Amino acid sequence: MAKYIINGGKPLQGSLAVQGAKNSVLPLFAAALLTDEKVRIHNCPDLADVTNMGKILRSLGAEVERHGNTIEISGETLISYEIPCRLARELRSSIFLLGSVLGRMKRAKVAYPGGCDIGLRPINLHLKALSELNVRIVEKYGYIYCDATQMRGANLTLDYPSVGATENVMLLAALSEGVTTLSNAAREPEIVDLQNFLNKMGAKIDGAGTPFIKIEGVPKLSGVEYTTMPDRIVAGTYLIAGAICGGELTLTGANAEHLRSLISKLIKSGCKITSNDDNITIISEGRPKAFDNIETQPYPGFPTDLQAQMTALSAIAEGTTIITENIFETRFKYIPELIKMGAKIKVKDKHAVVEGIPRLKGAELAAMDLRGGASLVLAGLNARETTIINDVQHIERGYENFEINLTALGADILKV
Ligand code: UD1
Repeated sequence: MAKYIINGGKPLQGSLAVQGAKNSVLPLFAAALLTDEKVRIHNCPDLADVTNMGKILRSLGAEVERHGNTIEISGETLISYEIPCRLARELRSSIFLLGSVLGRMKRAKVAYPGGCDIGLRPINLHLKALSELNVRIVEKYGYIYCDATQMRGANLTLDYPSVGATENVMLLAALSEGVTTLSNAAREPEIVDLQNFLNKMGAKIDGAGTPFIKIEGVPKLSGVEYTTMPDRIVAGTYLIAGAICGGELTLTGANAEHLRSLISKLIKSGCKITSNDDNITIISEGRPKAFDNIETQPYPGFPTDLQAQMTALSAIAEGTTIITENIFETRFKYIPELIKMGAKIKVKDKHAVVEGIPRLKGAELAAMDLRGGASLVLAGLNARETTIINDVQHIERGYENFEINLTALGADILKV
C-alpha cells in the first residue's frame, strides 16, 4: 500500500485548479441511467469512487467511457436492475442508484448495507421515502427488492435532511407519474447540481437549494452534456492547508459561495480571504487563532466533511477550540493519530476539545478514512521532522493528484 512521506514547515504559494465534485459526479452518474440516450459529463475527477461507480453502471449493462476528464455514459443497453454486492462494497454511497434504477427499470435489487458489510450507513430514510411513493419494498436474505410499477407522486417530509435520500427521491420521481413534493430536503450545492442536470435532461424539478423541492414527473428524459460543479470539500481542504502552512494560495474554478461557513471561520482565525466569481485566494501569515466552537450541521452549516481538517488546524492554532460532530458518530477515528504528533486533544462523546500548540512533531501514522486521512496530511505539512502516512488509498478516494498538487504549491511530500 502506498504511503506519503512529508517534511513539514514549507509555506504554500501559487495557484491550483479545483477538481470536479466527487459527491456531485456520483449522483449524476446515477441520473445518466434515466435515459437511453448518451450523456456526457465534463470535469469528472479521476478517483477510485468514480471508477467504481462506472463499474456498477457497466454491470447493469450501461456503456461507460472516460476521455480525459469527460465521461460518456449510454444507458441504452441497460439490462439489469441488480446492484452487485461485490461492487457496492467498494462504494458505500452507491445507494442512490436505487432511485435511478427504479425510475428506469421499475425494479431494483440491492444488498442491504449491513448484509453487504459496506459500513454502518443507515438507509431507513431512503426506504421510508420510497414506500411513501408507493414503491413495494421486501427485505429478504440481506437484499432489498423494490417494485415501483405502482409508484405515484406524493407529498413527503424527510425526518432529517439526508443528502442521499433527497437525491434518491429526485431521481425516482423525475421519471415517474404524478407530482412529488419533498419537505425538509437537504440543501447541499450537490442537490442543486443534480436538479440542474436532470432539468437539462428534460425533468421538471424546482426548489433545490431550499428545504422544499417539487418534482413533476415526466415520461421521458433525454441525453445531456453537463459540467460538474467544483468540489467544495477539496477546495476547503486546500484553504485549510493554506491557513496551516502560511503563504498565499489561489484556488481557481472554486465557488466561495459554497464555502461561506468555512471562509468566515478562517477570516476569524486571522487569514485574509478574497474571492470573485470562480476563484478564492487565501493569505495566511503567523499563527492562526483558535475558533472557540466548530459545530457540524447540514448545509449551509459547517460541513462534516471538513471537520477533521479543521481539527488539524485547531491543533496548531493559538487557543482552544471545541469541535462538535453532529452528523456522523464515528468521525473522530483520526484523532489518536494526531495525538501521536503531539496534538493536545480530548474527546468526550461528540465533542473534541483541542488545545493548540505552536507546532506538531512528525510520526508514523495510518489514514483510516478519507477526510480523517486528509487531516493527517495537513498536520504533516506543519510538523517538525518527517511524517509518514500509510494507507493513502483512503485519501485518494477523494483527492485527485493530492501529493502532486501540494508539491506544485511548495510542500515537501512524496508518495512511495
Ligand atoms: C453525503 C456525502 C458525505 C457527507 C454527507 C453529509 C455523498 C456521496 N456523500 O452522504 O460525503 O458527509 O452527505 O453531508 O454525497 N441517515 C439516517 N438514515 C438514512 C440516511 C442517513 O439515519 O436513511 C443519517 C446518517 O447516518 C447521518 C446523517 O443522516 O448521520 C446524514 O446522512 P446523509 O445526509 O444521508 O449523508 P450521505 O448522503 O450518506
